[in-house]
Amino acid sequence: MGKVLIVYHSQSGNTKAAAEALAQGAKQISGTEVIIKEALNAAAEDLLSCDAVAVGTPDYFSYMAGGLKDFFDRTYYPTQGSVTDKPCGIFVTHGGGGKAVESVKTICKTFKFKLIGEPVLIKNRPDEKATQALANLGKLLCEAAE
Ligand SMILES: Cc1cc2nc3c(=O)[nH]c(=O)nc-3n(C[C@H](O)[C@H](O)[C@H](O)COP(=O)(O)O)c2cc1C
Repeated sequence: MGKVLIVYHSQSGNTKAAAEALAQGAKQISGTEVIIKEALNAAAEDLLSCDAVAVGTPDYFSYMAGGLKDFFDRTYYPTQGSVTDKPCGIFVTHGGGGKAVESVKTICKTFKFKLIGEPVLIKNRPDEKATQALANLGKLLCEAAE
């Protein structure tokens, strides 16, 4: 059974809603365990023990939120060499920009994750179309986690 970890930071709820939409998609694939964690509460062990990971953040000042950056900062050394090619999906909420996605892509590349699908960019709270795109990414991650 594959385990999908969803790690996110959210201050006003938009990215949390996106994380939940992704989880709903992932849960449609039977036999997959889906774990959602706020980035500030997630640790290296979570990353090591999952089969695929989704990372989500709001765009704050054209960069990822400090909460997600803190997760990456704390988990980089303890996981290096053990997460190479781990399937990874990215989702970013924004207010009209979305440049933060580049910072997330760069760090995921440094971790040597294997990017699954295209990063999903969502303007503020996910609408129907964004919810569908997030659910689809969740399904892709489940397939990659098998
Ligand atoms: C401090 C701060 C900085 C922000 N900077 C940007 C930005 O540079 N570009 C952008 O498109 N949106 C920006 N936004 C808007 C947020 O990215 C957007 O509202 C996001 O969906 C908030 O997610 P959350 O509800 O999960 O916290 C900013 C919001 C805040 C609070």
